[in-house]
Amino acid sequence: MALKITVIGTGYLGATHAAAMAELGYEVLGLDVLPEKIEMLRRGEVPMYEPGLEELLRRHVAGIEGSTGRLRFTTSYEEVGAFGDVHFVCVNTPQKHGEYACDMSYVESAFDALAPHLTRPALVVGKSTVPVGSAARLAERLAAHAPAGADVELAWNPEFLREGFAVQDTLHPDRIVVGVTGERAEALLREVYTTPVAEGAPFVVTDYPTAELVKTSANSFLATKISFINAMAEVCEAAGADVAKLAEAIGYDERIGKKFLRAGIGFGGGCLPKDLRAFMARAGELGVDQALTFLREIDSINMRRRGHMVEMARDAVGGGFLGKRVAVLGATFKPDSDDVRDSPALNVAGQIHLQGGQVTVYDPKGMANARRLFPTLGYADSALDAVHGADVVLHLTEWREFRDLDPAKLAEVASERRILDGRNALDAALWRKAGWTYRAMGRPSA
Ligand code: UGA
Repeated sequence: MALKITVIGTGYLGATHAAAMAELGYEVLGLDVLPEKIEMLRRGEVPMYEPGLEELLRRHVAGIEGSTGRLRFTTSYEEVGAFGDVHFVCVNTPQKHGEYACDMSYVESAFDALAPHLTRPALVVGKSTVPVGSAARLAERLAAHAPAGADVELAWNPEFLREGFAVQDTLHPDRIVVGVTGERAEALLREVYTTPVAEGAPFVVTDYPTAELVKTSANSFLATKISFINAMAEVCEAAGADVAKLAEAIGYDERIGKKFLRAGIGFGGGCLPKDLRAFMARAGELGVDQALTFLREIDSINMRRRGHMVEMARDAVGGGFLGKRVAVLGATFKPDSDDVRDSPALNVAGQIHLQGGQVTVYDPKGMANARRLFPTLGYADSALDAVHGADVVLHLTEWREFRDLDPAKLAEVASERRILDGRNALDAALWRKAGWTYRAMGRPSA
């Protein structure tokens, strides 16, 4: 009999995981505590913008014409407990208000709600990003509250998907990491992931704490790479060098690699910033805070980028924002997403607004979320409208749409032809040809 799978939590991670499991051929039941989210998913609608996800979902959601019918949704833990052989917990772990530590309350309530319904043998698999030590604690809680007792096991299987590539990363992961305490859990997870493993995805078996740490250390490493190149950008600014060339040149060394060396206004989003901070908080609890003090520096280099962009913009408009119009291209924390959580672009827009600038933002997919978070900013329906009458244009999220813009057209409507590239992604020569003063971060001479 094929395994029956449940997915608890239907955010980015859960919605994608549920659809991917159905794609791999399993019967899947997804759960969320928000009934309106479940209603949307049942109609085959995704509550966020993620390329390819809606198509994948519609291919499997029961009741949609032509679908396999393998994917259903519910709000009932009782139904989940009765249905599943393997339960994936995919709820989020945001940063706690006013603290560095992560908020485990969603994970804890998911486990507490699920446990009493585990009346038959089952494997619970945590995918949420949690502080090291959580899995061991949650395993004890399961053992104490699951009626099936020792027939219920826990595994930790961190997720490495990137927003914008969630479907691809879930169906074709570059590695599968499982933290287990027994062979049965390992065997079940090997079965779940038969297809990607057959395609060559490495399957790494560890204990709980190692699996938990793999996730936080991977994100810390990525953040470190970005802040490293941004620190080099600061030096390049002072020394008259070009950080993009520098990144290219060091990237040819395979030990360094080209990826994640794009200098600009730095990292944001729902993962990297809060994972760094939660990791530092946890290291403190473990008495090894010294081991991670460098992450504080990574965080501050990153936050400094946003301030630096504001300064560059202020200089560009003559030293003060009062009475100046600023066009902001991009609101999301990265392209191909509608996610504005801790977005460097919106942070810069907000700072300029607070300093008296008249800011108009345009983003291809993030407008609704941006409006909700920063209702006091101005918004335009297109890049052209945003640039209309602008004294300076800031390119802050590297959407393809912005690279495809015609600088000559924008030049006709802008008040001043000044563009600051906060992502080092535009074709400088093209903009200059159309009469713009182009300036990028970490490339004073470029
Ligand atoms: C990140 C990790 O890349 C995933 O592997 C991980 O699974 C995920 O967090 C998570 O913990 O769930 P994501 O938040 O989607 O994924 O975003 P990234 O692609 O890592 O980008 C993060 C930020 O870094 C963005 O704001 C991006 O603009 C910025 N960035 C990225 C740079 O400034 N420079 C670069 O060279 C690369």
